[in-house]
Amino acid sequence: MNEQNLRQNPEVDAARQKYGFGISWLALMVALPPLVYYLWICVTYYQGELVFPSGAAAWLQFWSHISPPTWRAVCLYGSWFLAQAALQIWMPGPTVQGMELPDGSRLDYRMNGMFAFLLTLGVVAGLVALGWLDATVLYDQLGPLLSVVNIFTFAFAGFLYLWGLKGAVWERPTGRPFYDYFMGTALNPRIGSLDLKLFCEARPGMVFWMLMNLSIAAKQYELHGMVTVPMMLVVGFQSFYLIDYFIHEQAVLTTWDIKHEKFGWMLCWGDLVWLPFTYTLQAQYLVNHTHELPGWGIAAIVALNLTGYAIFRGANLQKHYFRRNPNRPVCGRPAEYIKTVKGSLLLTSGWWGFSRHMNYFGDLMIALSWCLPAAFASPLPYFHIVYFTILLLHRERRDDAMCLAKYGNDWLRYRAKVPWRIVPKLY
Ligand SMILES: NC(=O)c1ccc[n+]([C@@H]2O[C@H](COP(=O)([O-])OP(=O)(O)OC[C@H]3O[C@@H](n4cnc5c(N)ncnc54)[C@H](OP(=O)(O)O)[C@@H]3O)[C@@H](O)[C@H]2O)c1
Repeated sequence: MNEQNLRQNPEVDAARQKYGFGISWLALMVALPPLVYYLWICVTYYQGELVFPSGAAAWLQFWSHISPPTWRAVCLYGSWFLAQAALQIWMPGPTVQGMELPDGSRLDYRMNGMFAFLLTLGVVAGLVALGWLDATVLYDQLGPLLSVVNIFTFAFAGFLYLWGLKGAVWERPTGRPFYDYFMGTALNPRIGSLDLKLFCEARPGMVFWMLMNLSIAAKQYELHGMVTVPMMLVVGFQSFYLIDYFIHEQAVLTTWDIKHEKFGWMLCWGDLVWLPFTYTLQAQYLVNHTHELPGWGIAAIVALNLTGYAIFRGANLQKHYFRRNPNRPVCGRPAEYIKTVKGSLLLTSGWWGFSRHMNYFGDLMIALSWCLPAAFASPLPYFHIVYFTILLLHRERRDDAMCLAKYGNDWLRYRAKVPWRIVPKLY
């Protein structure tokens, strides 16, 4: 295969540039870390109010709450990250092949997430029960941990940038160092058998998110002598989402991040900082907001969560199984699809007949159900649904542009057959 063939599809590369982040990537890299600090300071020091101090002195006072790294936080996170890497490498689990790469090869992935997840929970529970680890340690160290993980991630992305430069020819970076630092230089950087992108997508960030939630609930118990129903709903829903992720771990191999996104600052910082520190905002907010909810409210929130889950998981699994075996029935009937000139098949039945991204729709319903238990006293707990809506709207546009560039007329046929982007009959 010559070099041109080995490169990613040039039209897709162009679409990726055009509908990617433009120059906003720089603004994102500069603005997002302070935003995470801002949210944490609001929820921790201002009772969850969104505060906008007036004047330089007031802002200085506001930012003075930023916690510098502590050795305790460094040791906690360092041992956490290394332990999770060791589990990823050495724990047993089936080996599964990833999707085909531009050079025709496929990578092997060790799918031992559930094993590692359960072992981690067991070990942490054991350490807490023995009194060797304080149940509230992650909540108490949240500020220093935020600084440690931020510093670590900026450095780690530098390592990824350099490591990726020796990657495959079709991964060739743009040559703009800061942009490449942001977007990444390699699709699947690996150290030995450790696939850094798959590892960071799931283990050190997602499992940390769950442990932080549990630590936050423990803090509410320590402070108020109870764990409220809203706290149980948030922690329960998010734990369910994580357990579900590990049950269907293999489905991650057909997602956008794994297939298309190189592993640079954006994914790395998103996985390690943004996810655990902003997805726990609702639980952080609830620590000192101990309201309860009416029975009908609880029932409605649970129904929203379960409906969203059924759509989200159903759509993702249908696509996953269809891509692996197009002869497998969808909803008990032969799958309907469009065959593209490129060879890929686009499913048009089941959930994929309602809109082109029903999985996003389900995910948005789930995200809303994570916010509603916080009730309506402050907009801060709703930060998640606002951000997530923006993320998925933007992602859908990028995906649509890239698929149009890749599939051309076949994608137009698909659009005609399934006209709605995310929400059937609405958007
Ligand atoms: N919680 C979070 O923070 C978070 C963040 C992001 C995403 N997610 C969730 O992760 C899941 C995966 O999202 P994703 O962004 O990777 O999008 P996705 O919808 O799973 O994947 C899009 C890709 O699937 C293929 N495709 C599109 N339409 C198809 C069809 N009709 N039939 C078969 N293949 C089709 C195309 O790739 P090819 O044709 O090139 O193969 C397209 O690029 C979603 O449920 C999303 O909500 C969660």
